[in-house]
Amino acid sequence: METVVSGIRPTGNLHLGNYFGAMKNFLKMQQENNCYFFIADYHSLTTHPTPADLHGSVKQVLAEYLACGLDPEIATIYLQSDVPEVTELYLLLNMNAYIGELERTTSFKDKVRKQPENVNAGLLTYPVLMAADIIIHNAAKVPVGKDQEQNLEMARKFARRFNNIYKVDYFREPQPYNFGEALIKIPGLDGTGKMGKSEGNGIFLVDNEKQIKKKVMRAVTDSGPTEMNAEMPEPIQNLFTLMNVVSEQSTIDFFKEKYAKCEIRYGDLKKQLAEDINMFVAPIREKINDIKANDDYLRKVAKEGAEKARESAIKTVKEVREIIGFKPF
Ligand code: TRP
Repeated sequence: METVVSGIRPTGNLHLGNYFGAMKNFLKMQQENNCYFFIADYHSLTTHPTPADLHGSVKQVLAEYLACGLDPEIATIYLQSDVPEVTELYLLLNMNAYIGELERTTSFKDKVRKQPENVNAGLLTYPVLMAADIIIHNAAKVPVGKDQEQNLEMARKFARRFNNIYKVDYFREPQPYNFGEALIKIPGLDGTGKMGKSEGNGIFLVDNEKQIKKKVMRAVTDSGPTEMNAEMPEPIQNLFTLMNVVSEQSTIDFFKEKYAKCEIRYGDLKKQLAEDINMFVAPIREKINDIKANDDYLRKVAKEGAEKARESAIKTVKEVREIIGFKPF
């Protein structure tokens, strides 16, 4: 069993793309590894949320991940801010992180461009905090998307640098977690590209039946095939990709045949697709709402998760302090 750490930024609701892209892999990953999943609520302070927004989005994301099946009996699920040892390791690692390398990070340069009015030191040292999150549990693997590869690379660098400075072989260099089979990409409803957060493009796990129907009915299509067995253009292909994950095979075959024979009515296909999406989403949506209404449960999950996470965090920080030379007289 390998130790895996995954940080979740509390931004926005999960959509079908997140579910079929990442979440399904997480469910398998937690069975096969010693997983630490945490809500990166310290990291989210770089954007200066109000206290109410911060609390609300942390609760929402925790409820959604639990509703999808992240299991606190199997994995360690916690809030980053419940593990103060992370901040101590962050401070210690900051001493060996150079301004120049932090300024050259792509995500930092992006932020400078996008929010020039709020280029705070937390943004600059974001990769250091992320490194602390990972190496505090001496993780072997971290599941990361393309946008986080550089941050993981920096975590390796900080781990290696610590070992070099203190001439120890203490921290492991965390590697990307590889999800065997190719990641499923769920397309958006706007014809091209993948599902994201933008209005109308995505279907969220919290969307109700009416919202789902409205979004699906508005999905981009074309004027229909004009010759038998025509190849499908991307927007139509996309609707079938969605059907592939939520509908019965017989339903998919039925509409494929209609398309091949130029008899397809997109309105019928969309109605069926909306129903099938709702069938899939409804139990998750209910679970999200149940969990959100159950503060006792959330409190218990967070408390037990923090206790488990702190066990390994306390051990790491104690050893790191000794390596550095903080010792009792
Ligand atoms: N930076 C990650 C993101 O934006 C979130 C994150 C914070 C993280 N700390 C982490 C991910 C540690 C993996 C491991 O998605």
